[in-house]
Amino acid sequence: MDATDKKRNAAKASLDFIQPGTVLGVGTGSTVNFLIELLPGVRDRIDAVVSSSQASTTLLEARGFEVTTLNEVGDIDLYIDGADEANKHLQLIKGGGGALTREKVLAAAARRFVCVVDDSKLVGMLGSFPLPVEVIPMAQAFVARRLLKLRAQPVWREGFVTDNGNHILDVHDLAISNPLEMETRINQIPGVLTVGIFAHRAADVLLVGGETGVREMRA
Ligand code: 5RP
Repeated sequence: MDATDKKRNAAKASLDFIQPGTVLGVGTGSTVNFLIELLPGVRDRIDAVVSSSQASTTLLEARGFEVTTLNEVGDIDLYIDGADEANKHLQLIKGGGGALTREKVLAAAARRFVCVVDDSKLVGMLGSFPLPVEVIPMAQAFVARRLLKLRAQPVWREGFVTDNGNHILDVHDLAISNPLEMETRINQIPGVLTVGIFAHRAADVLLVGGETGVREMRA
C-alpha cells in the first residue's frame, strides 16, 4: 500500500468523529483533500464549516459547502487536519503547505483536534522535517539571524506567500528535543507570526494510516 492509500484511509476514519450538529474545522494538505472528497457523504451531520486556507475553501465550495468564518461560529467542535511529523505525545510539525497560522488558530479553537497522517509521519523526535516558521516580510532576515543562533539553518521558501501575505522560513537541522520549550522560544522572536510546532495545542487523537489499517492513538 502506498502513502496515498494510507492517507486516504486515515482521512476516511476521521469521518467517524463527525457527530450530528458538528461545527467542523477543515485543515489543509493532500490528506485533508481526501477528507474533503468524502465530506458530502456526511453533509447531514455538519452544521457549519470553517477552513484553514484558501485552497481548502475552494475545494469545499466546489463540493457545495458554504464556508463560514471562525468569527461567525465561535469555537468549533472538531478540527481535522494532517501533519508533517507527529510524535507519540501527539505533538506535531505542521506548515508544509504554508497554512500553519490559520491551522494553529483552528486547532486552538477546537474542542477536539483529530490529526490524520500516514505512518511515514510518525517520528521519535520532531525536527527531521524542516520546521516552517511564518514571518512578517520586513522581519524575515532578522528572524533568520535569530534562528541561526539556535544552530539551525533557516531557508526562505522563495516565491511563496501565505494566505496572510507573509513569508515562510523552513528551518533545517533543528533538534527539537523539547517541543514545548522550542515552540515558546521561537514564538518569542519579534516578527514571527507562527511556528509550526504544535505542542502547546497537540492533537487529541492521531489516526495513522498503515499497511494493515488505521491505528488510533490518543494523548
Ligand atoms: C499544511 C499542513 C499539512 O497538514 C501538512 O503539510 C501535511 O500535508 P499532507 O497531508 O499533504 O502530507 O500543515 O500547512
